[in-house]
Amino acid sequence: MSAHTESAATTPLLVAEGLTVLHGQLAALRDVSISVNAGEIFAVVGANGAGKSTLLRTLAGLHRPASGVVRVDGVDITTHATDQRVRQGVVLVPEGRRLFPSMTIEENLLVGAANGRRGEWNLDRVYDLFSWMRDRRKEKTSHLSGGEQQVVALGRALVANPRVLLLDEISLGLAPVIVQRIYQTLPSIAGGDMAVLVVEQDVTQAMRVAARFQCLLEGRTTLAGRPQDHTTEEIEAAYFGFGGLGSAAAS
Ligand SMILES: Nc1ncnc2c1ncn2[C@@H]1O[C@H](COP(=O)(O)OP(=O)(O)O)[C@@H](O)[C@H]1O
Ligand SMILES: [Mg+2]
Repeated sequence: MSAHTESAATTPLLVAEGLTVLHGQLAALRDVSISVNAGEIFAVVGANGAGKSTLLRTLAGLHRPASGVVRVDGVDITTHATDQRVRQGVVLVPEGRRLFPSMTIEENLLVGAANGRRGEWNLDRVYDLFSWMRDRRKEKTSHLSGGEQQVVALGRALVANPRVLLLDEISLGLAPVIVQRIYQTLPSIAGGDMAVLVVEQDVTQAMRVAARFQCLLEGRTTLAGRPQDHTTEEIEAAYFGFGGLGSAAAS
């Protein structure tokens, strides 16, 4: 394992500075910076189209920024390919899970393990955390519910032994009780060396587990800090881009 123990809590593990990302003419991110510490759960929130997925995909190496830099542990990985970043511990659970539907649960996990780093996470540890998966490991993932698929996607990322786990809208399309159950596992997953960066449209759930957050609006950071230091009104204003009127939607 790495030598980062004492200093890990204060040295940012993941740093992005001044990211501008273009989709054709559109600047999906404009001068966005973010810094995530080891062991931390960090939330990025924002409305549909705010640039959340673009940010995660850029951190994972799926988009090349027009300007800006991404560092892990001080190492500039801005030009590194996705597979290389996975081996460096930057692992994305993409929006919409993207499992291999014709493969079994176990085969999906094995793909994650094969592409990842060595470390304390393996199939057994994932099966210990989500015991239903062990019993059903020979089932094709296309037979699973959305919530079950999301958990398998999370497991597939964990067996790659991420240092920075990027979760893109894990709550999308899932019943609140399922979302809550998945979120309840995050504190036991994060910690030690691993940082978890959750991206959500649904502010409530993400804010509950996150030590710090950042709000995006139309590709820009509009608010950042610790959830308890900001009122619902402030967060709504940052989320919607105006004060007061959105009071029913983001709480
Ligand atoms: N591959 C793409 N090509 C063109 N435009 C894109 C692409 N991906 C995202 N966008 C646009 O970039 C903006 C940010 O999208 P996205 O990062 O998916 O936001 P979010 O995840 O917050 O909903 C949106 O306006 C979206 O339509
Ligand atoms: Mg998205």
